[in-house]
Amino acid sequence: MRIVKSFLCVSEHLAPLRWLSKPRNCSNAARASSGEKNKGVSDSFRRQVASGPRFQDFIKSPPVTLAVNCEHTDEHYLSEDLGLLGDARKVYFETYGCQMNVNDTEIAWSILQKKGYQRTADLKQADVVLLVTCSIREKAEQTIWNRLQQLTAMKKKRLKTNSPVKIGILGCMAERLKTELLEREKLVDVLAGPDAYRDLPRLLAAATTGGQQASNVLLSLEETYADIMPVQHASQGRSAFVSIMRGCDNMCSYCIVPFTRGRERSRPVSSILEEVRMLSEQGVKEVTLLGQNVNSYRDTSEVQFCGSERTKLSRGFSTVYRAKQGGLRFSDLLDLVSRIDPDMRIRFTSPHPKDFPDEVLQLIAERQNICKQIHLPAQSGSNQVLKAMRRGYTREAYLDLVDNIKQIIPDVSLSSDFISGFCGETDDDHQQTLSLIREVGFNVGFLFAYSMRKTHAFHRLQDDVAPQVKQRRLEECIGVFREEAERVNAAVVGSTQLVLVEGESKRSAEDLCGRTDGNMKVIFPKEDVAVQASASNTAPIRGGGYVLVKILSAGSQSLRGRALSHSSLISTPTPRCDGYK
Ligand code: SAH
Ligand code: SF4
Ligand code: F3S
Repeated sequence: MRIVKSFLCVSEHLAPLRWLSKPRNCSNAARASSGEKNKGVSDSFRRQVASGPRFQDFIKSPPVTLAVNCEHTDEHYLSEDLGLLGDARKVYFETYGCQMNVNDTEIAWSILQKKGYQRTADLKQADVVLLVTCSIREKAEQTIWNRLQQLTAMKKKRLKTNSPVKIGILGCMAERLKTELLEREKLVDVLAGPDAYRDLPRLLAAATTGGQQASNVLLSLEETYADIMPVQHASQGRSAFVSIMRGCDNMCSYCIVPFTRGRERSRPVSSILEEVRMLSEQGVKEVTLLGQNVNSYRDTSEVQFCGSERTKLSRGFSTVYRAKQGGLRFSDLLDLVSRIDPDMRIRFTSPHPKDFPDEVLQLIAERQNICKQIHLPAQSGSNQVLKAMRRGYTREAYLDLVDNIKQIIPDVSLSSDFISGFCGETDDDHQQTLSLIREVGFNVGFLFAYSMRKTHAFHRLQDDVAPQVKQRRLEECIGVFREEAERVNAAVVGSTQLVLVEGESKRSAEDLCGRTDGNMKVIFPKEDVAVQASASNTAPIRGGGYVLVKILSAGSQSLRGRALSHSSLISTPTPRCDGYK
């Protein structure tokens, strides 16, 4: 497993999407979910609430967007101006940034596919090129500027050959720079922020028929694309990401995300459950629940049916916003999602350390198919820096939480994010970060040098750590992370792990690769193994199946082992059971 990465930077072409045969209807969705959670509520009350007005009904729709309401039917959407149709024009996507962007690409594609566009993986064939962009660090934006130069050169050439191409910028960079981007890059045709993907057909039509630049960067308080079913498959169609919320209210002082993705809002639970059920029927074996702050999930669309309990923060944690009240919480969602298919692994990312009540931890400990793996972004080990970052916790509170997690889930695997060289960070602060990394023992880390964005830190603090010092500190953090990861991984040598097979190893066609419950990569020889633990007949191992693997050696980024038999989540008592040693 990679210890450092410049935060997932992908440029990939994804499997085509599937729409639901019928668009979701909000009233049905409310009934389905409320029935599961609150059996005692009278039918008539349910009917009244389900058919009553919703928040959307009280606010004016943004002037430039098309039908954005999930009560609109297919027919309504398609009865729009025929000029919005794609006419089989080919769209080529390039996706940068985090998993949210990978998921958003599938949402954008889903919307365009519905309008008659086709998808191509060949840039030369494209009539429309869409870049789904990231703004998290300066380097991420620089990558896009460089790519735009290449694409606009291509566009100029294509104009001469009479096969024009349109270029669109989607996602966080479109949101951050808004029309400044169009002014700087005159050959960009379309700009759509993360909440404006439903407007893409109209924007593309304006750019194509009207020949003008078109943009929509409105952020929404409610858009969750709940009625759009993106299905994008990694690992040979056996794992999928499911978006459960959008935006972030945390306002960490270094972070651009609240400005590019807007306010935090949760996707209704019924729509999430429906997507996970569909994935289970398709044979998907691993689902990762996605969001910038997944564990502060609250589905208040059905608040009438639920208690008014406030979000309980972990001990020693605070927020800059008012705690949410009522509705279904992350623990409720995790419970419901994990009951859908006991042979499907459930992961989630990214959570914030503030929202880890014992209910969530106990559920992870008890439920067989919720992976015992938690991403716990720390960012720094120094109280002075944590305060400047406005993370809402101290080093002590973070370490107490780690102790609590380890006590409730003894076999837990922990990963984290750290920023080196934040405003005002001294060598002593940096030493405290190194000591925290040693103390916790993460097995995966995402480490970054601070990159100034136009956030609270830009306005109020000084980016006063010299670039070479940031780099040196970053490298020291990487070194300590590697040592610790090796130590943590060495502890599983000799154990037997339940591994979900991804497919052939990239390095050798003789080997297979898969992941443990703790999300560690395992490489093992491709050979037939017993169909189950004590059986004598054997069968080949295929991607998407579970196997028991005896771990023979460990490095800082992967494990090596030998497969013993085919297995399943249901037939394996605990994924990392000492009894298997
Ligand atoms: N919502 C998630 C992830 C946010 S972005 C979370 O809070 O964990 C992923 C990571 O990028 C952050 O955790 C942080 O470590 C890093 N990051 C964010 N802004 C940054 C900046 N300005 N410079 C360097 N790293 C940054
Ligand atoms: Fe950014 Fe903080 Fe929100 Fe994560 S929690 S997205 S780091 S503001
Ligand atoms: Fe980048 Fe936006 Fe994700 S800034 S990290 S693509 S939320």
